[in-house]
Amino acid sequence: MYRTHTNGQLRAQNVGQEVTLAGWVQKTRDKGFMVWVDLRDRYGVTQLIFDAQRTQKSMMQQAQNLGREFVIQISGTVIERESKNPNMPTGDIEILVSKVIILNASLTPPFTIEDTTDGGEDLRMKYRYLDIRRNPVRENLIFRHKVSMAVRNYLSGQGFVDVETPYLIKSTPEGARDFVVPSRMNQGQFYALPQSPQTFKQLLMVGGLDKYFQIVKCFRDEDLRADRQPEFTQIDCEMAFVEQEDILNTFEGLTRHLLKEINGVSVGAFPRMQYDDAMRLYGNDKPDIRFAMEFGELNQVVKHKEFNVFNTAELVVGIAVPGANSFTRKEIDKLIDWVRRPQIGALGMVYCRCNDDGSFKSSVDKFYDQEDLAKWAETTGGKPGDLICVLSGQTNKVRAQLSALRMELAERLGLRKPDEFAPLWVVDFPLLELDEQTGNYHAMHHPFTSPKPGQMELLETSPGEVKANAYDLVLNGNEIGGGSIRIHDKQTQATMLKHLGFSEQEAKAQFGFLMDAFEYGAPPHGGIAFGLDRLVAILGGQETIRDFIAFPKNNSGRDVMIDAPAPLDDTQLTELHLKLDLQQ
Ligand code: AMO
Repeated sequence: MYRTHTNGQLRAQNVGQEVTLAGWVQKTRDKGFMVWVDLRDRYGVTQLIFDAQRTQKSMMQQAQNLGREFVIQISGTVIERESKNPNMPTGDIEILVSKVIILNASLTPPFTIEDTTDGGEDLRMKYRYLDIRRNPVRENLIFRHKVSMAVRNYLSGQGFVDVETPYLIKSTPEGARDFVVPSRMNQGQFYALPQSPQTFKQLLMVGGLDKYFQIVKCFRDEDLRADRQPEFTQIDCEMAFVEQEDILNTFEGLTRHLLKEINGVSVGAFPRMQYDDAMRLYGNDKPDIRFAMEFGELNQVVKHKEFNVFNTAELVVGIAVPGANSFTRKEIDKLIDWVRRPQIGALGMVYCRCNDDGSFKSSVDKFYDQEDLAKWAETTGGKPGDLICVLSGQTNKVRAQLSALRMELAERLGLRKPDEFAPLWVVDFPLLELDEQTGNYHAMHHPFTSPKPGQMELLETSPGEVKANAYDLVLNGNEIGGGSIRIHDKQTQATMLKHLGFSEQEAKAQFGFLMDAFEYGAPPHGGIAFGLDRLVAILGGQETIRDFIAFPKNNSGRDVMIDAPAPLDDTQLTELHLKLDLQQ
């Protein structure tokens, strides 16, 4: 037996017991006549004591030579500590060691394995197995486990069946590039790794399974950000014989259950917001509604003066930033520089101070009088003490810019509280999105999403106006899930694909299997997929999903620990029929 107890277990009531423990040497304090060693495992830290008066000389030496991260097994007696440490669960006791076995030595680790470490991101990723020994990383992984177990239990309890779908498939268009895998047995042909199990879960509905879920890896070759990884995990779900309302209720139930079970937070009915309103009020389809700062569109109240910047703009829009009249001129100038950075791209920012005495002071006083500015305040909800920030330009761009400013200011003002949860359904998404570069429409969610009833005809005349039976679940300004009611008849699916620019042949080649299945009694169905990594991070009060993934990729999509991706050797390339192509 390697151990009788873990390192987080022993308390004052164990004093006098003979125990055996195993773990890693966290640190050693050597006072010559006395050596203390902190022994760590997943469960905690226990202090060991070697004392010249009570410990054999050879063992004193052995203790003095223990290096950081050595794996040891010790036996000894639990004794009461002379100076107790109330900050540690095991702080009342220590172990007077009678036997030490070194199970494995360790090189000196390249960074300190403490809650706050001196290791930079790259170094920690290269030695991720050492990073995982640190409390915050281990706790995040255990937290993730708790969330995914709660999801499994809940969905299983609701009659959902966990079904695995294949990873070696054909391209599914979810809007990103595919990762592809060459086939050795089929020269010149490639599998694609699934961007999601979308078509398979629909086929499971045709197969009559009725309620499906899977916690599943998805692969997307897209630019990476804090909330995006090339391989990530979805809680993928589908139901048959449902309308949008059924899906929203079911998954609101799941989310509410998780908030209660994991965070101990009870939330009421989730508000719902139309996509158009989200864009108008927050400039964003995933608004953080933990705080207000709603957009006020100012076109009506700014275009009657000689200020050409506003007169020529498609949209003039502002937000009232609570309490920000306290910002100094210098701070406001910095904010203006911030919105002018290329990442945000605003040309400038107009501001208006709302003074405590009810008067206003704007950066465009030359053009606008107190009466005008009072209207700005009224439109943006500005109160005495606030600062109104106004941007102008082309509607989509200016909304995105002001949305970024709103989030930045909320962050700076501490309004994005990690322990406060504000879920929101965003509904009535447009079915299609115009690709401004190519002038083509593509499916905003995916090509299997059904238009709202009665809107199919609009596809011919004004495709951009067709609304979809599609919805997103937003939590604290993050899109944590998205789904739709699907098309379930061949004709509608064919029409949809035609509008997306697929020829009949292309549609048959790519989606023939699905459309064929629709001819064999496909039930009405719909579903949703949550991003598990994002959900876990947000429930954990953070937004960087990498911190909740055991072995994440860096921003260039690399695993620096195993050094992937990597070249293949000639034999493998030849076998995969890739050698010639690469040399060309
Ligand atoms: P969608 O593309 O909206 O829908 O994806 C669902 C959810 O997955 C998460 N997500 C990601 N998380 C981390 N890294 C990524 N690269 C990444 N991409 C997406 C998001 C998102 O809300 N098949 C449909 C679902 C359906 O219609 O049922 C789908 O995949 O949280």
